[in-house]
Amino acid sequence: MTRLQVDGVPVELPAGASLLDAVRATGTDLPALCHDDRLRPAGSCRTCLVRADGRTVAACVTPATADLTVDTADDGVRNLRRDAVALIASALPPRALADSAHSELAEACRALGIPADTAAGDPARGRDESHPYVHLDRDLCIACGRCVRMCSDVQGTFALTLTGRGADTVVAPGTGGPWAASDCVACGGCVDTCPTGAITQPGPGQGLTSRQTPPDRVRTTCGYCGVGCT
Ligand code: FES
Repeated sequence: MTRLQVDGVPVELPAGASLLDAVRATGTDLPALCHDDRLRPAGSCRTCLVRADGRTVAACVTPATADLTVDTADDGVRNLRRDAVALIASALPPRALADSAHSELAEACRALGIPADTAAGDPARGRDESHPYVHLDRDLCIACGRCVRMCSDVQGTFALTLTGRGADTVVAPGTGGPWAASDCVACGGCVDTCPTGAITQPGPGQGLTSRQTPPDRVRTTCGYCGVGCT
């Protein structure tokens, strides 16, 4: 076990935990827009910054080591987190912050007091609605890469990639054409992990993302298989 302090609170964690795990163990939540506990950490969005022994580090990719003193509440580092989230939001259109129930980004902005009119961008990248089960709104993509890692590392499909450079970086099918012509198997992993609602499920349940309220569960049998297992 590793023992350290977060905001003056002693924390004990198993080996291999991150500072984000340590902070969350104290009940403090941090924005972590490129992080999903199911995925290897990327450390690319910088929304989870904390101070560790005086150094500013991304909590999601920094190992929790013994005797570290972590500070999340210092004004300087709070402002850095707020600026990182606001910068991401500022590149998106206003609808990006309209619904915090379906968007981790919108929820982070609300929690940090970032005004809704911060999202005033107009990337005009368009939508890909070619696939019957997965729709992409490129204007809401923040290039966090969660969908790409979910598709490759968890699902093992490798259907998605990030294309473009700088502010124009956006998720796209690795085959280069429309989503419908990609290797996507419609597992829904990308929909589930997307922190902004850029990737959604059309039709019934439209807009479901990782922020969705728990769905009703029913016993059912696949309509296309016929084996009959439930
Ligand atoms: Fe830590 Fe993105 S969540 S850098």
